[in-house]
Amino acid sequence: MQRNLALRWLRETFNANSSQAGIVYFADDDNTYSLELFEEIHSESLSVACGLCGWLAVRVPKVNAAGKVYGWKTVFDPHRPFAIDMAGFAINMRLILFKPQAYFKLRGVKGGYQESSLLRELVTLNDLEPKAANCTKILVWHTRTEKPVLVNEGKKGFTDPNVEI
Ligand SMILES: *[C@@H]1O[C@H](CO)[C@@H](O)[C@H](O)[C@H]1NC(C)=O
Repeated sequence: MQRNLALRWLRETFNANSSQAGIVYFADDDNTYSLELFEEIHSESLSVACGLCGWLAVRVPKVNAAGKVYGWKTVFDPHRPFAIDMAGFAINMRLILFKPQAYFKLRGVKGGYQESSLLRELVTLNDLEPKAANCTKILVWHTRTEKPVLVNEGKKGFTDPNVEI
């Protein structure tokens, strides 16, 4: 609800026809952010990586040789349209203003589909721009003051040992 309120405020405050530059990012109080993240997203539209969540060391988009996102490296329901965490994407303001119908769905949305409910109104997979060196760097951490439970690690060789965490 707070995120939808923020989207409404942006649309009421800024005019779609003005060339208002800006990036919308849904930060959270239980994440840790690299300052590099904000440099990465400051002028672009979508997608960074998220570390230490979903019981895997990293959850990132799969990026092909052409530099396009084609899927998601995650154990929990990778077939979600956008199997990405709230901390894993940023949206260009122009997109928010030009698609005024796009909100997070509050009802009838399964767990883990909240991000998809907004993103599918705004973009297709093909529109995503992988950041952080094609999603090989981790710039956001879901932090907890306890040892991480990585029960899904080791399944199907999920985490790329070359990824910089
Ligand atoms: C990402 O991958 C594309 C395609 O392979 C490449 O052209 C581009 O230079 C890469 N970007 C970075 C920052 O590594």
